[in-house]
Order: sequence, then C-alpha cells, then structure tokens
Amino acid sequence: MVRVKIPATSANVGPGFDCLGVALNLYNTFIIEEINTGLQIEGCDEKYRNENNLVYISIKKCFEKVGYNPKGIKIKMQCDIPESRGLGSSAACILGGVVGANEIAGGKLEKKEILDIATEIEGHPDNLAPALYGGMTVSIRDKKNTYVEKITLDKNIKFCALIPDFKLSTEKSRSVLPKDISYNDGVFNVGRTALLISALSSGNLDLIKIGCEDRFHQQYRGKLIGDYYNITEKCIELGSKGVFLSGAGPTIMNILHKDDNEFIKNITKYLQYLEKKWNAKQLNIDNVGVVIEN
Ligand code: HSE
Repeated sequence: MVRVKIPATSANVGPGFDCLGVALNLYNTFIIEEINTGLQIEGCDEKYRNENNLVYISIKKCFEKVGYNPKGIKIKMQCDIPESRGLGSSAACILGGVVGANEIAGGKLEKKEILDIATEIEGHPDNLAPALYGGMTVSIRDKKNTYVEKITLDKNIKFCALIPDFKLSTEKSRSVLPKDISYNDGVFNVGRTALLISALSSGNLDLIKIGCEDRFHQQYRGKLIGDYYNITEKCIELGSKGVFLSGAGPTIMNILHKDDNEFIKNITKYLQYLEKKWNAKQLNIDNVGVVIEN
C-alpha cells in the first residue's frame, strides 16, 4: 500500500501560459493498494468509481510503461483541492496515479520519467511540474521530453485564491483561445514573463503587477467568468501585488506581501455582494511537492 500526497497548483502565473506554475499548501491524498482482483475506488462521487477514474487511468499508464501486471487495484481518495477550479486537481490525480503505481511496481522511475508519463496524459506540464517538485517551476516540452527549472522565490510572497462555487472545465476554457497570436502579443508576453520571474526572485514586488499582464489567454477566458474584470480591478485597489487567472480558471489568484493581513478581510467583504458565491483562501507556497507517506 502506498499513500501519496500532492499539492494544489496554480498554473500559467500571469503571462507564463502553459509553462509557469506554483505549488500551494492545499492537498489531495491517494492511498493505492494492490488487491487480489478487480477495481475498488473510495472517497469520490459515484460517477468516478469506475475505469474512467483519472487516478486509475494514470496508474494503468504507468504500469504499462514499467511492464507491471497488478492483480487488482484499490484507490482511496481524500481530495481537498476543488475540482475544475484552475487549482490543478487533474494534475494531482494524474501524479497520484503515476507516483503510486511506480512505488507499487518497485519505484524504478526517476522524477523526470514520472513527469514525462504524467505530461503525456495531461498534455502540458505547467501544473504537474510544481506539484511534483514543489515551489514555482518553469516547464516546457518538446516532442520527447519535458524540461523543468525551479525558480527561487522571494520569501515575502504569499498567495490568495478567490475560488468561485462554479466550475469551468479546461476543455471549455481552451476552446475559446485563438489558434494564432500576433507577433506583438508574443513580444508583450515574453517580456512580461521574464520580468515576472525576475521580480518574484528578487522580491521587487512593485513590478509584479505589470509582470502579471497577459495577452495569450486571460482576455478570452475572463469573459467566461462573471465579474472577472470587476474582481481583478478590486484586488489591485485592495493592495494585491499582482492578479491573474489561475490555470484555466475560474479561480482568480493574487500575489501578496506576506505581512498583508488586510487584503483577505477586505476582498471577502467585497465578494459577498457579488451574484455568485466566491471564497477567498490564503495559501502559502509548498516547496516540497509530492510526498510518499508510509
Ligand atoms: N496551462 C493550462 C491552460 C492549465 O491554461 O489551459 C490548465 O490545465
């Protein structure tokens, strides 16, 4: 039996579409066990208790890769990461499955190989890499490999997630993106991505706001999220150092100075008057990533 704990992640981070992500201290835990026969799944909705369960799909994929034939599998899920909110719940399920299966099969795979298998399933590494390694990562892939570098973050940074009570699937959120981008928009994003990484490392928090600007996805996806523009404007007014759409949304993420205890109180007051229900949750960086607990 293996117990795998995976952090939530916020991908994209401003202009870093499909490449920047950060691990946060909210977790899913998966207990995976080889049993004598069949498939048993506990701790999730009835609709996920079958062979289409993402943790199970990922377990099977990993077993295929390492050539292991289990008799049967039991999965127990303890999920605190809200689903389809842009906080990496799918990436957590995929990694939980791949890491758990690798352990059951003898633990032969290196972290990098685990990331390659998981990225084949997810399609992009920006949630997977920080969930696996912890902290903030920049990750890219070519046809064969995924390349990851961990970014050293200034110690004065914390996050505040504004999580709505409605879901937005990555599929729907990707469907509104344009097929091509202009040269100008490319230049806009590449400069801001470099600036943001540098400012997050040096602690020059005054540059975070402009560093979070983006022309690749937020303007298209924002329209799917009621009050997105009002909320992001209010966040800056209330002292957020930078605000961006977390992953494919709908969660809106704020970067705050660690000593700012007013923002969460004030934004909570503001959010209560909106039509939809939003919950403000302060989160810290998880620097550890996946943990296998015995
Ligand atoms: N980079 C991905 C996207 C993250 O924005 O679609 C969500 O899976």
